[in-house]
Amino acid sequence: MIKTIMDTAFFKITDTENQRDEIEKAAAFIRAGEVVAMPTETVYGLAANAFDPKAVEKIFEAKGRPQDNPLIVHIADAEEIYKIAEDVPQTAIALFEKFAPGPLTVILKKKDVIPDAVSAGLPTVAIRQPSHPVAQALIRAAGVPLAAPSANISGFPSPTNAIDVYDDMNGRISAILDGGSCDFGIESTVVTLAADPPRLLRPGVITVEELQSVLGDVDVDEAVLNPLKKGETAASPGMKYKHYAPKAKIYIVEGDFETYLAYLKAHKDEADYALVFEEEASRTPLPTVTMGSISDPFSQTKRLFDALRELDKKGAKTVFARSPSKEGVGLGICNRLYRAAGFHFLNENIARGKILGVCGLSGAGKSHVCRILEEKGAVILDTDRIAREITLPGSPVLKTLAENFGRDILHTDGSLNRRLLASRAFGSREKSERLSAITHPEIIKITLERAKEIIKDGKTAVIDAPLLFSAGLDKLCDQTIKVFAPEEVRLRRIISRDDVSEEEAKKRMSAQNEEDKLSEKADIIIKNYPPYDPLDQINKLHLL
Ligand code: TXA
Ligand code: MG
Repeated sequence: MIKTIMDTAFFKITDTENQRDEIEKAAAFIRAGEVVAMPTETVYGLAANAFDPKAVEKIFEAKGRPQDNPLIVHIADAEEIYKIAEDVPQTAIALFEKFAPGPLTVILKKKDVIPDAVSAGLPTVAIRQPSHPVAQALIRAAGVPLAAPSANISGFPSPTNAIDVYDDMNGRISAILDGGSCDFGIESTVVTLAADPPRLLRPGVITVEELQSVLGDVDVDEAVLNPLKKGETAASPGMKYKHYAPKAKIYIVEGDFETYLAYLKAHKDEADYALVFEEEASRTPLPTVTMGSISDPFSQTKRLFDALRELDKKGAKTVFARSPSKEGVGLGICNRLYRAAGFHFLNENIARGKILGVCGLSGAGKSHVCRILEEKGAVILDTDRIAREITLPGSPVLKTLAENFGRDILHTDGSLNRRLLASRAFGSREKSERLSAITHPEIIKITLERAKEIIKDGKTAVIDAPLLFSAGLDKLCDQTIKVFAPEEVRLRRIISRDDVSEEEAKKRMSAQNEEDKLSEKADIIIKNYPPYDPLDQINKLHLL
C-alpha cells in the first residue's frame, strides 16, 4: 500500500462559471506539476500536465499503476489534436466531428511533445475530448492537455463519483473536483486508427456499430471479450492487467434469468451475494446488489462499477452475477464484468433439467409412479439400490457399520447381513439414528452427483426414495411428490405383492410413521387408487 503523503483538497463544483476560483486553484496544482482528480462524463480521472513527465510519474505512483500502461491525453478543443498527434488522418477528424466532445478515445501516431511516460514508450498517443463541463473548465484553466487514467487504485473498479475517488485517493493527490456522479459510468470507447482497418480496443457507450457508421470496417480486438493468452501481447496494454475487480470473487452465470435462478437454487450455499438486474431482485433467493434495469443498457453502464464497489462495502465474498447482453452498449458492460470476474463463467446447467423426489408409504405405488415418469423420459435414481451400493463388501460405510453394530453383521464373504443389521439397528431409537447418520450422508452425496449428471443434459432426474424426507433427500429436489393410497388399499397390495400374512404386512406399515408425517410437506400428492389414474395426474401437472 502507498502511504498517505499529503492533504487532499476537496472542491464541490456545481457551476463552472461561478466557481472559477476553485477551478483556478485546481489548475494551479496542475501547473505546479501535481495531480488532481476530475469528473468526466465516463468515470473520474486522475489528471496531470501531459507535457510534464515528472507530473505524469505522480499519477502512476498514486494509482500503483504498472509503468507500461499508457495514459489518455484529454484536450478541451478538437484542434489540439494537431499539437500532439502526427499525420492526423481524415477518419480521426470525422470521428471527432461526430462523437466529440464525448466518451470516445482515438489512438494516433504521437508527436515528440508527448513524453514516453504518457505513451509508455509506444509510438502512439490516446486522445479524448471529454464533454463534462468541469473537465473542460480544468483543461482550459490549466492551459495544457491533461494525461488522465481512471481515478481508481490500479486493478479496482473505476470511480463514478467523488466519494469513491476520495476512498481510493485521499492523501495521495493534491485535490479532488467533485462534479457529481458520472453520466455513463464506464470508460470511453477506445479505437486505434494506427491500425488498418481501425480496431476497437475497449468498448464503451459509443458502439462498434456507431464507429462503423463513420469508419466502415472496424475490427474488434480479441482481448475485448477474452483473457489474453500466455505470451500474447496486448494491443492496448490496459487489457493485460487484472481489471475492475472488487475484493469479492465474481462468477458469471451464463444464460437467461430462469437458467440463472435454477443455477442459484442448486448452488446457493456456494455464494453469499447475487448481482442481478433491478427487475430480478425480488425473485432472487440471495441478498442482491443490482446493476441497472434489464431493459436499459445505459442504466447498466451507470450502475456497474458502483455495484461492484457496493458488494465490497457489504462484505460480499462470493457473488453469482447475471450475464448481460453483448449487443450494442452491452459489449462494454460485458468487457468490464468479465474482467471483474477474472473470466470465470458458470454454465454447467445451461440445459438444466429438474430434480423430482418421489416418496410414498409401502404399498402406495411409488414404483408404479416412477415407472410412468421413466416412460415419459425421466431418469430414475433408486435410493434403495444406492443404499446397497454403498454397503458393498470392502466399502468404507460397511466398515463403519461393522465398528458400530458388531463385526458379525458381516457374512464370512464380507457382505452385509442386512437382516441382522436391521434387527440390531431398529431395536432402539438411538441405534436407528446412528445407522441413519452413517448411511444417509453418503446416499445423499451419491444421489446428488448422479442427479447433477442427469440434469446437465436437460433431462429430469427422479429420486425414488421411501425415506425422501426423513433422509433429507427432499432438499435436493425442485419438486417433491407423495404417492398416496388409503391404508386398506396398501394393506391388500402388500399382502399380495410380498406374499405375507396380514399381521406381517401391518407390522411393515407401522414402521413408516415418521416419514408419513414428514411427507405431508410434499409439493404434490398423486393419488394411486381407483378411480384415480396417476398418469392422468402427471400429465395434468406438466411434471415432465
Ligand atoms: O473514459 C475514460 O477513458 C477515462 C476518463 C478518465 O477519461 N480514462 C481511462 O483511462 O479510462 P485508463 O488509463 O484507465 O484507460 C486507458 C486505456 C488503457 O487500457 C490503455 O492501455 C489504453 O487506454 N491506451 C492508452 N494509450 C494507448 C495507446 N497509445 N495505445 C493503445 N492503448 C492505449
Ligand atoms: Mg482504468
